[in-house]
Amino acid sequence: MPNGGDTAMDMLIILACFAASSCAVRTDIDCLRSIKESLEDPKQVLSSWDFSNNTEGFICRFTGVECWHPDESRVLSIRLSEMGLGGSFPIGIRSCTSLTGLDLSGNKLTGQIPYNVADVVPFLTTLDLSNNNLSGSIPPSIANISLINVLRLDNNQFTGHIPPKLSELNRLKEFSVANNRLSGQVPIFCNYIVPVSAESYANNLGLCGAPLSPCKHKNHVDLFFSGFAVGLPVSTILTVLLIFCLPRLSMKRYYLLMIKKIKERQHHLIPRISQAVVGKESNLEESKSFGSILNQNNQLPSF
Ligand SMILES: *[C@@H]1O[C@H](CO)[C@@H](O)[C@H](O)[C@H]1NC(C)=O
Ligand SMILES: *[C@@H]1O[C@H](CO)[C@@H](O)[C@H](O)[C@H]1NC(C)=O
Ligand SMILES: *[C@@H]1O[C@H](CO)[C@@H](O)[C@H](O)[C@H]1NC(C)=O
Repeated sequence: MPNGGDTAMDMLIILACFAASSCAVRTDIDCLRSIKESLEDPKQVLSSWDFSNNTEGFICRFTGVECWHPDESRVLSIRLSEMGLGGSFPIGIRSCTSLTGLDLSGNKLTGQIPYNVADVVPFLTTLDLSNNNLSGSIPPSIANISLINVLRLDNNQFTGHIPPKLSELNRLKEFSVANNRLSGQVPIFCNYIVPVSAESYANNLGLCGAPLSPCKHKNHVDLFFSGFAVGLPVSTILTVLLIFCLPRLSMKRYYLLMIKKIKERQHHLIPRISQAVVGKESNLEESKSFGSILNQNNQLPSF
C-alpha cells in the first residue's frame, strides 16, 4: 500500500495536470468567443457557436471548428470560408494557442493583416485569406510562420512590396498573391524546393524578377542617389583602409619623403655652414622615427 506522502504527491500531480489542461481549454474557448464577437456575421452562421453548454469538447461541435481530439476543447483549425463574414482580421485568435489551420477565404474582411502575425498564429501550416478585401502591405512577419505549407493572399487589395524574406519559407507548396496591387521585386525562392509559378503573381501593379521578367533599373535620379549613397561610405572605408592598413614600410617611406621635403626647404633658409651638417644628418637619421627627426628639425635654427 502506498503511504500517505505518495498519495498526496499523486494528487498534486493530477491536480497540476488538470489545472494546466483546463487553462489551455479556457484560452481556446476565450479565443472562439473573441472571434465571434469581433466578426460581422450578417448570415448568422456563427449562431452554432453557443458558449452556454461548456461540457469538455463542446466547442468542437461548432461550425468550422476542428479540434485535436473531439472531446478536448483544443482547436486544431478554423475554416470559415464563404460565410459572408465582415470586419478585420480577428486578433483574438492568438488565444487559440494550438491552431495550425486558418481559412477565412471568400469573405468580406477589410483592414490589414496584423504586423506581428507570426506572434498571433505561430504554428499555422495553412493560412488562406484569399478573396477578401484586405489591404495594406504584406507583413514581413509572415516569414516567421516557419511551418507554413499553404499561403494564399490572392484577390485582395494588398499594396507595396512582397517581403523578400518569404523566400525563407521552405515548406511552401501552395503560394499565391495574384490579383492584388503589389509591385517590385518578388522573393527569390529556390525553385527546387518551392515551386512558385508566374500565376502566383498574376494581375498586380508591377511585379518583377523570376519567374516574371527581370527587374529594370529605377529612373536616373534614383540611380544617381543610390550610387552616391553606396559610393560615399565605400570611399570613406577605402580611405581609412589606406591610412591604417597600408604596410608599415610604405608609411615610413611616406614620412621620410615628407621630412626630406621639409629639410630641402630649410636649405634655402639656413646659413651655408650648417648645410653640410644637415645633409649628413639626414642620411644618418633616415631610419629614425618621424618624432625624433622632427625634434632634430626643431633644434636646427639654433645652429
Ligand atoms: C452539452 O453538450 C453535450 C455534447 O454536445 C451534450 O451531450 C449535452 O446534452 C449538452 N447539454 C446541454 C444541457 O445542452
Ligand atoms: C473593398 O474596399 C474598397 C475600399 O477600400 C471598396 O471601395 C470596395 O467596394 C470593397 N470591395 C468589396 C468587394 O467589398
Ligand atoms: C522573426 O523572428 C526573429 C527571431 O525570433 C526576430 O528576431 C525577427 O524580428 C522576426 N521578424 C519579424 C519580421 O517579425
